[in-house]
Amino acid sequence: MSDSIRNIVILTGAGISAESGIDTFRDGGGLWEQHRVEDVATPEGFARDPALVQRFYDARREAVQKVEPNAAHRALAELDAEWEGDLLIVTQNVDDLHERAGAKRVLHMHGELLSALCASCGQRHKWSEPLVGSPACPDCGAEALRPDVVWFGEMPYEMDRIYEELRRADLFVSIGTSGAVYPAAGFVRDAREFGAHTLELNLQRSEGSYWFDETRKGRASELVPEWVAEVLG
Ligand code: APR
Repeated sequence: MSDSIRNIVILTGAGISAESGIDTFRDGGGLWEQHRVEDVATPEGFARDPALVQRFYDARREAVQKVEPNAAHRALAELDAEWEGDLLIVTQNVDDLHERAGAKRVLHMHGELLSALCASCGQRHKWSEPLVGSPACPDCGAEALRPDVVWFGEMPYEMDRIYEELRRADLFVSIGTSGAVYPAAGFVRDAREFGAHTLELNLQRSEGSYWFDETRKGRASELVPEWVAEVLG
């Protein structure tokens, strides 16, 4: 890999966790075939039927605690540990598999399943239990805890920091995402505009493939370790 590469931004999506046994959203049989987005992933859906939404995320929170990181997560954790330049893993995923594989430089732009957000005081709490039944907020006592997940129509977390890192990136790599959801789907063009080389690792071409300098098709558990071995040389 070119010696001029120092700052790397990696965007990951549901495809990187698929081989750990977590459903993706838009593949055959995926979450959005099983549930209506409007019902379970919007503030309006939560207002309409909070119990339905809580049960949806309670089931996902329970499921994620039963699966393990795969070779793709482990390879990125190795890169994170070895890479002396700047590196940021911006994940759209709400699972904790990057961290459980050992990665440290991780940013969850869509929130986390193992966290609860108090809609009353705004505090976020590490959370592994169900939220249906409205447990009280440990800080303010209000029965206002909701999944700490960014729903459609809500602003993702830490966007200023993400754009700052994209502006400084020499290399932008996208792994296991369909490129269907903005603002993440636009990061490749932002990174390109700032002069980064762009690489996509995905089972199939994504909606944004056109904007990548290079696309490698295949399973993340094979493509990512291969790519990390190239980078670390
Ligand atoms: N290895 C590599 N890529 C894979 C694998 C695999 N084993 N399995 C699936 N993929 C690819 C699919 O080809 C698809 O392009 O991963 C992508 C998954 O796409 P989506 O299901 O749309 O998930 P994602 O892109 O992460 O969704 C973005 O949408 O629903 C919202 O907030 C949610 O963060 C999510 C966002």
